Order: sequence, then structure tokens, then C-alpha cells
Amino acid sequence: MNVLENPHEAFYQLDFARREGKRIGLIPTMGGLHDGHLTLVRHAKQQCDLAVATIFVNPSQFGPNEDFTRYPRTLDSDLEKLDACGCDVVFTPSIDVMYPPGFSTYVEPPKVAARWEGECRPGHFRGVATIVLKLFQMLPADVGFFGSKDYQQVAVLTTMVRDLDVPIRIEACETVRDADGLAMSSRNRYLSPDERARALALYRSLKSAQCMVDAGTRDAMLLEQEIRRILQAAPVDSIDYAAIVDVETMEPLARIESSAVAIMAVRIGTTRLIDNLVLQLK
Ligand code: PAJ
Repeated sequence: MNVLENPHEAFYQLDFARREGKRIGLIPTMGGLHDGHLTLVRHAKQQCDLAVATIFVNPSQFGPNEDFTRYPRTLDSDLEKLDACGCDVVFTPSIDVMYPPGFSTYVEPPKVAARWEGECRPGHFRGVATIVLKLFQMLPADVGFFGSKDYQQVAVLTTMVRDLDVPIRIEACETVRDADGLAMSSRNRYLSPDERARALALYRSLKSAQCMVDAGTRDAMLLEQEIRRILQAAPVDSIDYAAIVDVETMEPLARIESSAVAIMAVRIGTTRLIDNLVLQLK
């Protein structure tokens, strides 16, 4: 596995591989890698000739009171894991490379970024869209692999790529969960055993909403009430949002007509967790 810090070297290598007809799959991450990230690498390996992962804890997507400084930085074990699952290239740029002195251009995120994470974390999607566009420029790839765990992030990036004619396809991969249903996240390591047990309410509430849909419920308010009831019983410490929204626009729905996604962000102790489930109509 080739580990590169220099963007020019990375561009040159990938550009050369593409000219040879190789398909490149890109997997941007912030490190603290778990099986969710590694599944994206495996998807890239299946669909492309080269899997290229990036590890960069992007300061511009964290708010002033968020966990940028304590975010897990586990480079050695991350590289071991990537190597073990067949990743070909890892790009690990420094902050100075991504944000050199005088850096001042940012992507204005699309409309789908406005609510939910966008509202709770002002500036978050501006930082995400900016860094991902920079990575797409530095590392010419055919497909970008992203996790549906960050549902709104996928919607923002898919729209950005379309609106700005970025020549890459965004592929959304299913959320990977622990055996008990907790969505894998680099932030799960912040949870105490008691907090982790309470965090199981997120997926439980989503499954319960799906059961209600299976039983014929179409009223989004009833589904949302059920989700909140389960979260509050856990209890979670606060609910940033819990909503039933359109799968594309992410606007709130009153009734489920065809498909919908249940989304949520909660706080447990000092940890903020998100999860979602696309509700299937049979
Ligand atoms: P990070 O949180 O490290 O996640 C990197 C990628 O892994 C994202 O596409 C995310 O959706 C995916 N992922 C995380 N947990 C997952 C899970 N349980 N199942 C499936 N996929 C999962 O998301 C970011 O970093 C950043 O915002 C980034 C896109 C790298 C820009 O800085």
C-alpha cells in the first residue's frame, strides 16, 4: 500500500493509472477507522481497479464548540486496517497542504444542506463540500464511495457534483452496524458502557417506525412521536432532531406516499450521534 502526503505526487500517480485505463475508487475519511469505513474500501475494490482512501480530520467542518481537538487520530492502526483490506493508496495530507496560508475559497452548499445537520451545525456542510471538492480535484477518481450513515452528506455531495459538473459518480453504501444495531461511528469510542447501552435506542426507534409502516401507518407525525417516545425512554440526553423526510429533498413529510427516510441526531452525555433508516413501503 502506497501512503502519500504530497498532493502533486498523488495526482500524478492516479492520473497515470487512469491513462492506463484503470478505474479509481475514492474513499474520503477522517480516520478513526472502523468496519463502516473498511466496507467502503471493499466496495471500491469490487467496482474499481484501485481503491484510494484519504485520511484528514478537516477543521473547517467542525464548529467552534465541537470535537475537532479530541477527534480520534489513530494513523498507525488506520494504515494497518487499510492495508489488510487491500487498499492501494492512502492520501494523508497535512493541514497546511489542504488549507495553505491565504486560503479563502469555500463551496456554498446546496439547498438540501439547509435543514437538520446544516441547522444544528452551522458551517458544517460548507466545510464538508469544500474539502471533498478539493479531494476530488487532487485525486482524479471515477467513483466516490460514501456511507448512507451520513444520509444528508450524501445528498449534499451528490447535488454538488451535479451542480458543479464534477466528473465523478457518487456511490452511497449501506450503513454498517454492530451486531446489536448501533451504527458504527468513530465517535462511538467516546461512549461509556451505560451510554452505549442507551445509544441502542436510535436503531430501535427506527426499526419501530418501520414496523408501524409495515402495519399500515402513513402519518409522519405518528411515526415521529413513536421515535421520540423510544429515544426519550432510553433516555437520550437531548434530541437535536427526529423527522420523517423526503428521500431526495430532505423536506419534512406529512404523509408517506412512496418512500421516506427517518433521520435523527441525539446527544448522549457529551457525544452526538446520528442515524437514519429509509422506510420501505411493501
Ligand atoms: P468520516 O466520518 O470519517 O466518514 C468517512 C466515510 O465513512 C463517510 O462517507 C461516512 O458516511 C462513512 N461511514 C461512517 N460510518 C459508517 C457506517 N457505520 N457505515 C457505512 N459508512 C460509514 O464523513 C466524513 O468522515 C467526512 O465528512 C468526510 C466526507 C471525510 C469529509 O471530511
